[in-house]
Amino acid sequence: MRISLCAVAALLIAAGPVRANPAENDAAMFKLATRSGCMACHSILPVPARADGLPPIAPAWRDIAIKYRDDALASDRLTRTVMTGSNPHSSHWVGKISAVTMPPNAIAITEGDARMLVNWILVLVP
Ligand code: HEC
Repeated sequence: MRISLCAVAALLIAAGPVRANPAENDAAMFKLATRSGCMACHSILPVPARADGLPPIAPAWRDIAIKYRDDALASDRLTRTVMTGSNPHSSHWVGKISAVTMPPNAIAITEGDARMLVNWILVLVP
Protein backbone atom coordinates (compact mmCIF):
# COMPACT_ATOMS: atom_id res chain seq x y z
CA MET A 1 0.00 0.00 0.00
CA ARG A 2 1.27 3.41 -0.88
CA ILE A 3 0.62 6.22 1.58
CA SER A 4 0.80 9.63 -0.01
CA LEU A 5 2.83 12.38 1.62
CA CYS A 6 -0.34 14.45 1.77
CA ALA A 7 -2.08 11.83 3.86
CA VAL A 8 0.86 11.72 6.28
CA ALA A 9 0.90 15.51 6.54
CA ALA A 10 -2.85 15.58 7.17
CA LEU A 11 -2.44 12.99 9.92
CA LEU A 12 0.34 14.98 11.57
CA ILE A 13 -1.73 18.16 11.47
CA ALA A 14 -4.77 16.36 12.89
CA ALA A 15 -2.66 15.00 15.74
CA GLY A 16 -1.87 18.58 16.77
CA PRO A 17 1.09 19.76 18.80
CA VAL A 18 2.54 17.31 21.29
CA ARG A 19 1.63 18.54 24.76
CA ALA A 20 4.42 18.45 27.31
CA ASN A 21 3.65 17.92 30.98
CA PRO A 22 4.78 20.73 33.34
CA ALA A 23 8.10 19.06 34.21
CA GLU A 24 8.90 18.50 30.52
CA ASN A 25 7.96 22.10 29.80
CA ASP A 26 10.22 23.36 32.62
CA ALA A 27 13.10 21.28 31.23
CA ALA A 28 12.53 22.57 27.69
CA MET A 29 12.36 26.20 28.85
CA PHE A 30 15.54 25.81 30.94
CA LYS A 31 17.30 24.32 27.92
CA LEU A 32 16.14 27.19 25.72
CA ALA A 33 17.31 29.73 28.32
CA THR A 34 20.69 28.04 28.64
CA ARG A 35 21.14 27.78 24.86
CA SER A 36 20.21 31.45 24.49
CA GLY A 37 22.79 32.61 27.03
CA CYS A 38 20.31 33.90 29.64
CA MET A 39 21.71 31.74 32.44
CA ALA A 40 25.13 33.42 32.17
CA CYS A 41 23.55 36.30 34.09
CA HIS A 42 20.26 35.06 35.52
CA SER A 43 19.31 32.33 37.98
CA ILE A 44 15.87 30.82 38.36
CA LEU A 45 15.78 31.15 42.15
CA PRO A 46 17.36 33.96 44.19
CA VAL A 47 20.99 33.18 44.99
CA PRO A 48 22.80 33.86 48.28
CA ALA A 49 25.09 36.91 48.43
CA ARG A 50 28.31 36.45 46.49
CA ALA A 51 31.63 35.98 48.30
CA ASP A 52 32.68 39.51 47.32
CA GLY A 53 29.49 40.89 48.89
CA LEU A 54 28.15 42.21 45.59
CA PRO A 55 24.54 41.46 44.65
CA PRO A 56 23.91 39.03 41.75
CA ILE A 57 24.52 40.20 38.18
CA ALA A 58 20.86 40.07 37.21
CA PRO A 59 17.50 39.54 38.96
CA ALA A 60 16.47 35.95 39.68
CA TRP A 61 13.54 34.95 37.48
CA ARG A 62 11.39 34.13 40.49
CA ASP A 63 11.85 37.72 41.70
CA ILE A 64 10.83 38.98 38.24
CA ALA A 65 7.68 36.81 38.40
CA ILE A 66 6.82 38.25 41.84
CA LYS A 67 7.48 41.85 40.78
CA TYR A 68 5.22 41.70 37.72
CA ARG A 69 2.61 39.21 38.95
CA ASP A 70 -0.28 41.73 38.76
CA ASP A 71 0.91 43.47 35.60
CA ALA A 72 -1.19 42.40 32.61
CA LEU A 73 1.11 44.17 30.15
CA ALA A 74 4.32 42.59 31.48
CA SER A 75 4.48 39.84 28.85
CA ASP A 76 4.65 42.27 25.91
CA ARG A 77 6.90 44.78 27.64
CA LEU A 78 9.40 42.26 28.98
CA THR A 79 9.59 40.46 25.63
CA ARG A 80 10.59 43.78 24.09
CA THR A 81 13.13 44.40 26.85
CA VAL A 82 14.68 40.97 26.29
CA MET A 83 15.00 41.62 22.54
CA THR A 84 16.24 45.22 22.66
CA GLY A 85 17.93 45.37 26.09
CA SER A 86 17.01 47.26 29.25
CA ASN A 87 17.21 51.00 29.63
CA PRO A 88 20.39 51.85 31.58
CA HIS A 89 18.83 55.15 32.71
CA SER A 90 15.82 53.52 34.35
CA SER A 91 16.83 50.21 35.84
CA HIS A 92 13.94 48.34 37.40
CA TRP A 93 16.39 46.61 39.75
CA VAL A 94 18.67 49.39 40.89
CA GLY A 95 20.47 48.52 44.15
CA LYS A 96 19.46 44.85 43.91
CA ILE A 97 21.83 43.76 41.16
CA SER A 98 25.41 44.52 40.21
CA ALA A 99 25.01 44.92 36.44
CA VAL A 100 23.89 48.24 35.01
CA THR A 101 21.86 46.97 32.11
CA MET A 102 20.77 43.92 30.12
CA PRO A 103 22.24 44.00 26.61
CA PRO A 104 19.93 43.20 23.67
CA ASN A 105 19.44 39.45 23.17
CA ALA A 106 18.07 39.62 19.63
CA ILE A 107 21.20 37.96 18.20
CA ALA A 108 20.74 34.97 20.52
CA ILE A 109 16.99 34.35 20.49
CA THR A 110 13.98 34.83 18.21
CA GLU A 111 11.12 37.04 19.36
CA GLY A 112 8.79 34.04 19.48
CA ASP A 113 11.17 32.11 21.74
CA ALA A 114 11.74 35.20 23.90
CA ARG A 115 7.97 35.58 24.39
CA MET A 116 7.68 31.90 25.31
CA LEU A 117 10.48 32.26 27.88
CA VAL A 118 9.04 35.47 29.33
CA ASN A 119 5.61 33.85 29.72
CA TRP A 120 7.27 30.93 31.50
CA ILE A 121 9.26 33.30 33.75
CA LEU A 122 6.09 35.21 34.67
CA VAL A 123 4.45 32.13 36.18
CA LEU A 124 7.48 31.16 38.30
CA VAL A 125 5.76 32.65 41.35
CA PRO A 126 6.13 30.58 44.54
C1 HEC B 1 24.66 39.95 30.15
C2 HEC B 1 23.74 39.59 31.21
C3 HEC B 1 22.31 39.22 30.83
C4 HEC B 1 21.89 38.30 29.91
C5 HEC B 1 22.72 37.43 28.98
C6 HEC B 1 20.44 38.28 30.00
N1 HEC B 1 20.00 39.17 30.94
FE1 HEC B 1 18.06 39.53 31.46
N2 HEC B 1 18.68 41.01 32.69
C7 HEC B 1 20.00 41.38 32.97
C8 HEC B 1 20.01 42.52 33.86
C9 HEC B 1 21.25 43.21 34.38
C10 HEC B 1 18.65 42.84 34.10
C11 HEC B 1 18.09 44.00 34.95
C12 HEC B 1 17.69 45.16 34.05
C13 HEC B 1 17.17 46.34 34.84
O1 HEC B 1 17.84 46.73 35.80
O2 HEC B 1 16.09 46.88 34.51
C14 HEC B 1 17.85 41.88 33.36
C15 HEC B 1 16.48 41.87 33.37
C16 HEC B 1 15.67 40.91 32.76
C17 HEC B 1 14.23 40.86 32.84
C18 HEC B 1 13.35 41.86 33.61
C19 HEC B 1 13.33 43.21 32.90
C20 HEC B 1 12.62 44.30 33.70
O3 HEC B 1 12.30 45.33 33.07
O4 HEC B 1 12.40 44.17 34.90
C21 HEC B 1 13.83 39.76 32.11
C22 HEC B 1 12.39 39.27 31.87
C23 HEC B 1 15.03 39.15 31.56
N3 HEC B 1 16.12 39.87 31.98
C24 HEC B 1 15.03 38.01 30.79
C25 HEC B 1 16.16 37.55 30.10
C26 HEC B 1 16.15 36.48 29.11
C27 HEC B 1 14.90 35.70 28.68
C28 HEC B 1 17.42 36.33 28.67
C29 HEC B 1 17.95 35.38 27.59
C30 HEC B 1 17.37 35.49 26.27
C31 HEC B 1 18.25 37.30 29.39
N4 HEC B 1 17.45 38.00 30.24
C32 HEC B 1 19.63 37.45 29.22
C33 HEC B 1 21.12 40.75 32.46
C34 HEC B 1 21.12 39.76 31.48
